Amino acid sequence: MCGIVGYVGPRNSINIIVSGLHRLEYRGYDSAGIALCLKNNEKLVLVKTPGKISDLETAISKALPVKDNRTFTLGIGHTRWATHGVPNQVNAHPHLSRSGEFAIVHNGIIENYADLKSRLIKQGYTFKSDTDSEVIAHLIEQCYEGNLKGAVAATMERLEGTYGIAVISSKHPDTIVAARKGSPIAVGICDGETIIASDISAIINYTKQVIFLNDGDIITATASNIDISSVKNIPVSREMTHIDWDIRDIEKGGYEHFMLKEIHEQPLTIANAIRGRLMEAEGTAKLSGMQMDPREMARIDRIAIAACGTSYHAGMVGKYYFEDIAGMSSEIQQAAEFRDRNPIIQRDTCLVAISQSGETADTLAAVREAHQKGATVLGICNVVGSTIAREAGCGVYLHAGPEIGVASTKAFTSQVSVLAMLAIAFARTRRLSVNAGREMIHQLSVMPKIAEQVIAQESIIIKIAEKYAGSRDFFYIGRGYMYPAALEGALKLKEISYIHAEGYHASELKHGPIALLEKNVPVVALVPNVPAKIKTMGNIQECKARNAPVIAIATEGDNDVRSLCDDVIFIPPCDEFLTPIPVTIAEQLLAYHIARIRGCPIDQPRNLAKSVTVE
Ligand code: G6P
Repeated sequence: MCGIVGYVGPRNSINIIVSGLHRLEYRGYDSAGIALCLKNNEKLVLVKTPGKISDLETAISKALPVKDNRTFTLGIGHTRWATHGVPNQVNAHPHLSRSGEFAIVHNGIIENYADLKSRLIKQGYTFKSDTDSEVIAHLIEQCYEGNLKGAVAATMERLEGTYGIAVISSKHPDTIVAARKGSPIAVGICDGETIIASDISAIINYTKQVIFLNDGDIITATASNIDISSVKNIPVSREMTHIDWDIRDIEKGGYEHFMLKEIHEQPLTIANAIRGRLMEAEGTAKLSGMQMDPREMARIDRIAIAACGTSYHAGMVGKYYFEDIAGMSSEIQQAAEFRDRNPIIQRDTCLVAISQSGETADTLAAVREAHQKGATVLGICNVVGSTIAREAGCGVYLHAGPEIGVASTKAFTSQVSVLAMLAIAFARTRRLSVNAGREMIHQLSVMPKIAEQVIAQESIIIKIAEKYAGSRDFFYIGRGYMYPAALEGALKLKEISYIHAEGYHASELKHGPIALLEKNVPVVALVPNVPAKIKTMGNIQECKARNAPVIAIATEGDNDVRSLCDDVIFIPPCDEFLTPIPVTIAEQLLAYHIARIRGCPIDQPRNLAKSVTVE
């Protein structure tokens, strides 16, 4: 979704902001803009355009031709994902105040903007855009009494909703003011320059030392100094976080797409998720971020899981783990529904919030709701220092490195690995014996190897993708652990190939969707060697009887599946509870290659955003 980059320092801010915006492209956007400041009271330069950052670069070179060699040492830039108003030049950010002296960029949604807007109109303000954000620029100008931070603070008092904002003014050519409530702002601390961004990807090229603002914080940043305070102007201090991501992690490294790179990284990212955490001798896992000793874990009676999208599917696998392995009562909710339906949370409930980005608004709302109800909250996040990671209280990081492709891949397999370790650790405080625990831990330790073996099937998967890339509809079916894997496979395909795909429990197919089956509607049947396989084989027969072609994902050497199905992707044998990992990797490759053959923009599919920061 929307992205913010701001720079103040001796260098030309255009280059730094534009390259930062490129780093944020993966989040999904439809227009972009930049506002630059030169010196005291000189008019701010504003360039905005619908489309891509490359379109913005063209617009900048038209507005500021080479002969204009002024060095703009202060500026803010934005990528917009439309909420209020269509994606066009006028609605793109930054927005200027009436006098043109203040420019703002905004992520989030101002819920009371209509009310604020009508009041401002009565006071003689005119609005250029249809956005909720423009009110912020006018309010800051209206509240300004010589102090930019004061004007931002006074504006924040009037705003309802969520925001990360960055503000510059031609009256303060050496200062950026930024603030957050519900939408992230990170500050990169460099020597003699400061970079502000909504996402650390735009910062790590310059520094690994980052400060994350908390809700209600306002930062005043110059090239050499930062000052953070609350809306009431009380100074606050925020810890510096060291980010150990490498710039190479956010580059394609020779792959055609980030998604393909991230699929191929999985042997390594699964290894990173389990490294140092498997206690083979004790038959358990040690997750230090959990901050719970076995006695506290034994006191937890119920696990509630909340997540969105792919993380929700990982959470479904997690629910099965808590029931199957730990014998604990467990439920999974889409994060938005968790909060909307007033769930029953007791003191012995632990909410497990799963979010790759750690910024998904609905998951964050679930975390806050669970805290409000007195539950223990555990976050499973990938992005270090993200809001959910900080607010959860305790948690486990995935250590998967940045995930740039909008369709989540490596995060899923790391989430499942972490959930397996978590369930084993809980189970060992209950009925799971040390020997059974050892066997599970051993099975987990070979997962990186198994991931490698699935990826080695890529050329076979490409052939299958070529055969079915022209289809308009797909079904994915599975039972038990293969049911969430079916949902995830269908989600992957629809996200990046725009083919209509639905995941179903294999048995549910006959309660409706079977009406849609015919020779042009392939069914992906998930039938690794698990007890429920025999029943799913029956469901495959039902599909075949309706002439639907069946692509199976099955265990190596399974001749029954081979003779029944049209095409088969084989995965190595592994314990039932871990089958979602290899099966999902095979699904990711299938979806990727179908989308590639169809010529789809794989890393940035239409309408999708990597991190959904609105509810
Ligand atoms: C968006 C992304 C999905 C992701 C979901 C949850 O919809 O496009 O890929 O699974 O958000 O994101 P999270 O960061 O909370 O895991």
